[in-house]
Amino acid sequence: SIKACLFDLDGVLVDTAKYHYLAWKRLAEELGFDFTEHDNERLKGVSRMASLDILLSIGGIELDESKKQELAERKNDWYFEMISKMDESEILPGALEFLKECRENGLKVALGSASKNAMTILNNTGITPYFDAIIDGTRTTSAKPDPEVFTLGATEVGVSPEQCVVFEDAEAGVEAARRAGMHCVGIGSPENLAKADFVVSSLADMTVSRLNDIVVS
Ligand code: G6P
Ligand code: MG
Repeated sequence: SIKACLFDLDGVLVDTAKYHYLAWKRLAEELGFDFTEHDNERLKGVSRMASLDILLSIGGIELDESKKQELAERKNDWYFEMISKMDESEILPGALEFLKECRENGLKVALGSASKNAMTILNNTGITPYFDAIIDGTRTTSAKPDPEVFTLGATEVGVSPEQCVVFEDAEAGVEAARRAGMHCVGIGSPENLAKADFVVSSLADMTVSRLNDIVVS
């Protein structure tokens, strides 16, 4: 049976995907090209610098390392300004209820996010106390689809991979869960998340008993 739930942050627990998108779009526009929501799918779950590389390749732009650092910093300043104003109203539908239900049922709860801004977001939305372990972009060396972020989370809560379920909205994250040997529930639309065991449109469609049905069957 399932003993731990590992949650991605952006796009699963909180609605920050739109802020990432707005900040990257603004950067692309400054660089002179358009950046669509379709393009943005490729950035979900991907680290900041890797996202910048994808963005620049879409624009057909090549830059040296110091210029890239500067642009990534600029994007993050805009992004940080937006997430600084977040509060609990930006927790995604069903997320808080499901976190509570996990804890009431004795499941371990961990965060597995690529973001270096995770603590700011967790604190501003008030959900930090729900986690037994918080693994974010400041604690990992390899980005998703590398399984590191989830493997570390499972180790920290003391649960073996096959008893973990990962909740992910990004293709790279689903792949990371697979490589970690964990179950995976996709959050979003099935087209983008074909490799998940199961896809729901949001955590509002998730309960602990439903989780056990999905995973056991
Ligand atoms: C998450 C998001 C990505 C973001 C990455 C790094 O995985 O889905 O869009 O690029 O975190 O976030 P950061 O806050 O460190 O720039
Ligand atoms: Mg995500």
